[in-house]
Amino acid sequence: MSLKIQQKRVLKETETFIQKHFENEGSGHDWWHIYRVRNVALKLAKIEGGDNFIIEMAALLHDLDDWKLNGNSDISQSKKWLEKLDIEQNQIDKILVIIEQVSFKGEGVETKAVSVEAKIVQDADRLDAIGAIGIARTFAYGGSKGRLIYHPEIKPVMHNSFATYKNNTAPTINHFYEKLLLLKDLLNTDSAKEIAEKRHRFMEDFLEQFYAEWEGKMQLNSPGDFESPGE
Ligand code: NI
Repeated sequence: MSLKIQQKRVLKETETFIQKHFENEGSGHDWWHIYRVRNVALKLAKIEGGDNFIIEMAALLHDLDDWKLNGNSDISQSKKWLEKLDIEQNQIDKILVIIEQVSFKGEGVETKAVSVEAKIVQDADRLDAIGAIGIARTFAYGGSKGRLIYHPEIKPVMHNSFATYKNNTAPTINHFYEKLLLLKDLLNTDSAKEIAEKRHRFMEDFLEQFYAEWEGKMQLNSPGDFESPGE
């Protein structure tokens, strides 16, 4: 069997496994998140280079052992899955290293992607956390944890350790300041940075509109229409 056909088969098996595993995920880490990360990663790879097979495999598996979903940071499920497949040990090792490096663990906590493949998968995952999709996912995640949308008296906190970031229970709007608005400066590749610009601006506009609506600010075309007759 040619290498290409064999890799295609491995990718298909992994896709089917992951799709099934994340089918009913309700916190924004569902199969379609994986699907988008995989596609964006492969697009970035066209410009940035890297081994497509490693990138696609790591993108498909990157959330399988995520601490947000499992409550711990070990990568045993990915390892177990990879060892079942018909691929070389050095490829397994490369994929596992990427999976370990991809997760965001708080503002002051360094998670450095080393290989070009890791940089690309990390960027694709971070791009899916910002922009319109990022906003939707953030509220889905907050809702799944029973968090408030916003509380004017609870201010954002920058987390310098993984433990405080992980145990944070603040309203979802705070998450924009604690993570989402920081992501554009944490990207590795130039192509991802370019994509992030528009998504970042969209979140800033969203927040501006959010606070205006929160305060009940009226944005009327002709305010005169709303004056009562006596005024
Ligand atoms: Ni992810």
